[in-house]
Amino acid sequence: MASSRWSPRHNILKAGNILKAFGITVGGTFFPFSLWGKNETGEPLILPDNPLHKKLAKPVTAITLGAGARGNVYGDYALEYPEQLDIIGVAEPVYIRNERFSKKHAIADDNRFIAWEDVFKRPKFADAIIISTPDQMHYQPCIQALKMGYDILLEKPISPSEKECRDILELTKKTGRIVAVCHVLRYAPYFVKLREMIQSGAIGEIVSMQHMEPIEHTHMAHSYVRGNWHSSTATTPIVLAKSCHDLDIIKWMLNKESRQIQAFGNLKWFKKENAPKGSKARCADGCAVESTCPYSALKIYYRKRQRTYVFDLPEQKKKQGEAILQHLKTSDYGRCVYKMDNDQCDHYTTNILFNNDITATFNMEAFTPSSKATWINSASTIFETIK
Ligand SMILES: NC(=O)c1ccc[n+]([C@@H]2O[C@H](COP(=O)([O-])OP(=O)(O)OC[C@H]3O[C@@H](n4cnc5c(N)ncnc54)[C@H](O)[C@@H]3O)[C@@H](O)[C@H]2O)c1
Repeated sequence: MASSRWSPRHNILKAGNILKAFGITVGGTFFPFSLWGKNETGEPLILPDNPLHKKLAKPVTAITLGAGARGNVYGDYALEYPEQLDIIGVAEPVYIRNERFSKKHAIADDNRFIAWEDVFKRPKFADAIIISTPDQMHYQPCIQALKMGYDILLEKPISPSEKECRDILELTKKTGRIVAVCHVLRYAPYFVKLREMIQSGAIGEIVSMQHMEPIEHTHMAHSYVRGNWHSSTATTPIVLAKSCHDLDIIKWMLNKESRQIQAFGNLKWFKKENAPKGSKARCADGCAVESTCPYSALKIYYRKRQRTYVFDLPEQKKKQGEAILQHLKTSDYGRCVYKMDNDQCDHYTTNILFNNDITATFNMEAFTPSSKATWINSASTIFETIK
């Protein structure tokens, strides 16, 4: 007997297996969500063809506002694909970043600025503006760039204020310019394939969806306890700073309006009362548990040399160790994770009711393992469907 559309056979589809089924792999290993065109061993990523891509008559010229980590990610794209993108200007107040970025892109002295405002004192001199300034510094440059007729690549989150997001939308429509928000997951083969399958009905009718963001514990400590996003008020709450990607991808995948939402989040672990006995204000101050602590700054930054891009290290390798130790003595990256000024949630749960009575649950979890191999498997998106 042919099964009807409402057959009680439920099809629970775990997205981690989809890549395997569709062979989206890199050198036999799973592809981590990533914007870069190569994996860490230098192999090119196998990306699906995008019908919207077209050959450009000449490269898009762009000015980068904020030449920090992200500014350099997009900048490096220009180096790899010079026929598509040419960075011709920069605004960056940190001298060494401005200097290195300008050298890398051969930016003329006249096109180098300290602050984003300075760029807009000049008449329009490029096709596009790349806004990779800190979270709280997206709205004003975006509005200014739109007013001057630039197209924009805007880092997420657009703004912590709904009104500011709506202002940007309104001005975008009015000016007819492009504001491309860097929701990079939409371009990851993993999610591209998932969405295609859902939208085509290939896996049946969606009943519910479960999605998890496994932040990974040392990434949590680096960015949201010690780093730039440790304060939800000075920057943006973690649900925007980190999980605007996840909330965006859930809605993008289901392609439905949401009707109701509830959320709970909390900071459970990175607090003074959880500081181990014998710990000090800084890991290098003779902490009694330094050698076994998973968050030891000496282990992460000095011994393993992970995430050291935040230190703008000298180019000569032999000088780098001393520079890292100096940063660990003076910057927040050397402080004990239990004795910080952080307030970001380390776990977070959201339930969303979409039209068509589809429900979605989302979990953001800090305490997930570090290996990339387990990362992709734990980054689960599960759909329950009826065929
Ligand atoms: N799309 C993603 O997946 C993704 C990933 C990481 C970060 N981000 C976002 O990208 C943005 C930048 O993050 P980042 O990690 O590169 O931080 P970053 O601190 O490395 O870079 C920001 C840069 O902006 C510069 N800056 C500060 N004030 C400025 C001013 N007045 N004018 C011009 N530049 C100024 C800083 O000196 C710094 O170099 C943030 O909004 C962040 O949330 C997005």
